[in-house]
Amino acid sequence: MTARAGTPGAAPGAAQRHTPVLLERCLDLLAPALQDVPAPVMIDGTLGMGGHTEAALERFERLTVIGIDRDAQAIALATERLARFGPRFQAVHTTYDRIDEVAWSHAGQARDGGPGGVDAVLMDLGVSSLQLDEVERGFSYARPAPLDMRMDQGSGTTAQELLEQASQEELVWILRTYGEERFAPRIAAALVRRREEGRAVGSTAELAELVRASVPAAARRSGGHPAKRTFQALRIAVNSELDVLQRALPRALDALRVGGRLVVESYQSLEDRIVKQVLAAGAASRAPEGLPLIPEADQPYLELLTHGAIKADAQEIESNPRSASVRLRAAMRTREALRAPALGVERPTGPAPGPHSPRQPRRAPRSPRAQRHTRNPGGAHR
Ligand SMILES: C[S@@+](CC[C@H](N)C(=O)[O-])C[C@H]1O[C@@H](n2cnc3c(N)ncnc32)[C@H](O)[C@@H]1O
Repeated sequence: MTARAGTPGAAPGAAQRHTPVLLERCLDLLAPALQDVPAPVMIDGTLGMGGHTEAALERFERLTVIGIDRDAQAIALATERLARFGPRFQAVHTTYDRIDEVAWSHAGQARDGGPGGVDAVLMDLGVSSLQLDEVERGFSYARPAPLDMRMDQGSGTTAQELLEQASQEELVWILRTYGEERFAPRIAAALVRRREEGRAVGSTAELAELVRASVPAAARRSGGHPAKRTFQALRIAVNSELDVLQRALPRALDALRVGGRLVVESYQSLEDRIVKQVLAAGAASRAPEGLPLIPEADQPYLELLTHGAIKADAQEIESNPRSASVRLRAAMRTREALRAPALGVERPTGPAPGPHSPRQPRRAPRSPRAQRHTRNPGGAHR
């Protein structure tokens, strides 16, 4: 673990490594589901450094939190930070698309065998400041490091392996779709050329320089570092972030009791679009338009708690620049229903779908590589 500049000799604790975004807004939105319940249970699907969880445990004194993270280092640091809460906090090292299993196995226990269904789910998506700051994790274009970018360093394909194995067409697709990079064909061509010359890029610094050299000089002068979008795209691809999110959201909604609340914070438009679609689908009737009477089974099962996404204000952005891109959306489960729509992704567990097939929101974009190979999603421990 590397110590941050300014704290010579001492590795910073979890609290110093990441500032939770829109903290009070998250807790206020979750409060009605947590405060008048005898033994409320929340799943934090993205535990990270445990900042949101710590504040929730402090504010709601009967609350138990089950914290999920795919990053073993985050689990270790947050567990240390939250040890003072004893059995009110439990950590699970897995991906958040396994939230249904976690809800049944852990939340059931937390409720002493009481009814299933958790009271709240929080998801603060993306990478933590810890991951960005740890140079050797390879997430940052600013400092030289091996090209890893896996959130779970115990499994999955590294960015280096992806760059060595992907075809030019796949690279273009990844850069364009996940990075919205307009110079994707030039960058992909340069990557493949270097590979064919036996000099494949081997570090974050080499990749950042290759991208800089591949984009036209005029484009280098605006929109931040020219490698920013390429690094984002590779990170999303390496961790199958959109596929995992797409699987996770319906399962998170199914884990909630009636009256339970889901809060999701996204930091880039592809994620936010998926969240928006899933919540909008649950808040809309699934009956064909024009029916005089909407059958119970087709009625909405969610109430939107946010209309449009909530953003950070200027003050928060100034003190925590990471909050500049946040988009927060929240919903409440209003009734038992058929399972939440699964966005066309096959769900391996749970009961068979009922007679009314839900309207399917659009799928998240999947790379040609992901479509060809069924890969372990982001190194989930299956
Ligand atoms: C933005 S941070 C969360 C910070 C946390 N709210 C806090 O206050 O400290 C996001 C965390 O989610 C984790 N993560 C991202 N994708 C995940 C996934 N699919 N499953 C589980 N954890 C994931 C990352 O490893 C990271 O630690």
